Amino acid sequence: MSKRTLITSALPYANGPIHLGHLAGAYLPADLYTRYRRLRGDDVIHICGSDEHGVPITITADKKGVSPKQIVDEYHERNKKVFREFGIDFDYYGRTSSPVHHKTSQAFFLTLNEKGIFRKKKEKQLCDPETGMFLPDRYVKGTCPSCGYEEAHGDQCERCGSSLSPLELKEPRSTLTGNKPELKETEHWYLPLGDLQPEIEKWIDSRKNWKPNVLGQCRSWLKEGLSDRAVTRDLSWGVPVPLESARTKVLYVWFDAPIGYISATKEWAEEQGDPELWKTYWQDDETELIHFIGKDNIVFHCIMFPLMLLKHGDYVLPENVPANEFLNLEGRKLSTSKGWAVWLEEYLEHFEPDLLRYVLGTTLPETKDSDFSWQDFQTRVNSELADILGNFLYRTLSFTERFFDGKVPPLVNPNEKDLRALKSIKTSGEKIGKAYEKFRLREAIAETMNLARIGNKYFTETEPWKTRKEDPQSCANTLHVSVQIAAALSILFTPVLPNKMSTLRDQLGISGEAAWNDLDDSMIEPGRKISSGDILFTKIEDDVIEKELERLKRRAAEAAEAAGDSESEESYTPLKKRTDFNKFSAIDLRVGRITNAEEIPKADKLLKLTVDLGFEIRTILAGIRKQYDPDEVIGRKVCVVANLEPKKMMGIESNGMVLMAEEQDGKLQFLSTDAEVGSPIF
Ligand code: 2FM
Ligand code: ZN
Repeated sequence: MSKRTLITSALPYANGPIHLGHLAGAYLPADLYTRYRRLRGDDVIHICGSDEHGVPITITADKKGVSPKQIVDEYHERNKKVFREFGIDFDYYGRTSSPVHHKTSQAFFLTLNEKGIFRKKKEKQLCDPETGMFLPDRYVKGTCPSCGYEEAHGDQCERCGSSLSPLELKEPRSTLTGNKPELKETEHWYLPLGDLQPEIEKWIDSRKNWKPNVLGQCRSWLKEGLSDRAVTRDLSWGVPVPLESARTKVLYVWFDAPIGYISATKEWAEEQGDPELWKTYWQDDETELIHFIGKDNIVFHCIMFPLMLLKHGDYVLPENVPANEFLNLEGRKLSTSKGWAVWLEEYLEHFEPDLLRYVLGTTLPETKDSDFSWQDFQTRVNSELADILGNFLYRTLSFTERFFDGKVPPLVNPNEKDLRALKSIKTSGEKIGKAYEKFRLREAIAETMNLARIGNKYFTETEPWKTRKEDPQSCANTLHVSVQIAAALSILFTPVLPNKMSTLRDQLGISGEAAWNDLDDSMIEPGRKISSGDILFTKIEDDVIEKELERLKRRAAEAAEAAGDSESEESYTPLKKRTDFNKFSAIDLRVGRITNAEEIPKADKLLKLTVDLGFEIRTILAGIRKQYDPDEVIGRKVCVVANLEPKKMMGIESNGMVLMAEEQDGKLQFLSTDAEVGSPIF
């Protein structure tokens, strides 16, 4: 693993501040991984920046009544600053409004155009008759053809969830002027994804070690069949299309944004005083390109951008795209418009970065959606960072200071326990390294905390406060071993807790940067003077957490009030059409008990349930895997549709259906009952 590695994190839209969902999706995992690779001494750079084009920016600008430039200028600076304060260690944080980026993406477009990759298509698009502007989907509102909701957007109806195109809306109107849009002909440059599908399919099949959630999503896109995608837009905000015949058009934001990784690397190289250096990261086959993103960006990073790179021909393709799923907050979907988010700027006003780095790191949505709660934050800070890691370090350092004059004692005639504890440094290091290499960051962090747990337990069991008088050498050995474990932790915890580990290294008198190669069971020589200094982690009181919860709820209430009635109207699922009693009574509902539950390889949404209906045992597949682990559902009594026609999925026959209620935020809840297994429900 000594290859040159280019790590990128999704460029966040510069139209709002960074929140916990952003961090958990891309930035914290990318930073943990980059810091790990740096510790190993690998040649690695981490590139990110602001995505400053596209409709999300202009919509925010319109809402606030300012120019798009004002929006991106504000959020570029704020986001860059807050990432730095949180310790996200980018080598370069660029922006897509930069001249280098405009030039780079225009050159990219021209190369593909000259190679004849694009297909030009004429089409009719809605246009505002007053402003003459072609209207992006989000700029058209109208009546939903499915549910009759009058405020449906051109891309989706928020009330019934239907995915729409602006031409399907009844009574369409422009959100700019309220006018009825007119259809006007326009021409666009398309990336013919349909024709290129076999090439990308072959490439995806060749990907080794990709996460199942990522491969699963790619395969499902491919199975549906790729549609051609326009890479130009009739807008005024964006990178101008560099063709005389397209003077009023700009590049589609998802065409230019990923090229932003290349432009930012160019600017980084310039800053290093070696303008050609970017080429070694983008044009040399020895480079390993890794994109960290959230799951909503998978199609762009695993299909569209790789195809662009492939067809361009001068660039390396991604080696891996370890995308994460979504983070929920207090059991609900994060939503900035609903005020249901924790903003990083606000977090940093009240807490230190390392605490959140640890807690979020242990709950990253690596394989399925996960949840952040303030209660869990408090528990993990208090019972893991303070009670295990902090306690172990403080005991070790303060005991050495008090009873050994701050000098690390030598190890003489160690016993089994001492040797076993020392050995755990190597075994933990190996496990942690392997987990990082496989992008299993939660596991890496858990294993690191486990070494602190081993140290803490060893300290307690060897009782140096007793042996100090009874057996001074044994006491000295305990402290020697504990100091070595502390020194190892100062390396192993560096990716997660960079600030705290830097303080610890000062306390241990270790100079220089932490390096994996230094990891050893005798890093601190006997006689070295150490100092205990401050306690590294203090506990968080209940009232502090209560305030955070109150703040969150208050903001959500304010957002709901500001949204007014229209928001609450949008928030219920409309009733289906009436049905007659006979149709309803034809459905046989029964009480069942889940007696077993298993995951199904390659099916990230399904669980295979064994359900006891009293009179027979059924296999039923349920689409609940993203929210429930098998262990959580075994033993539950559930309501089952017992006379459904069997259906085969993933090669398994499902015999029935377990009823679930879906809450507003998408959370699935079982319909539970105390009735006996087998009872009919009517
Ligand atoms: O989803 C987003 O926030 C996009 N701005 C991510 C862009 S990633 C890359 F392509 F630049
Ligand atoms: Zn609708």
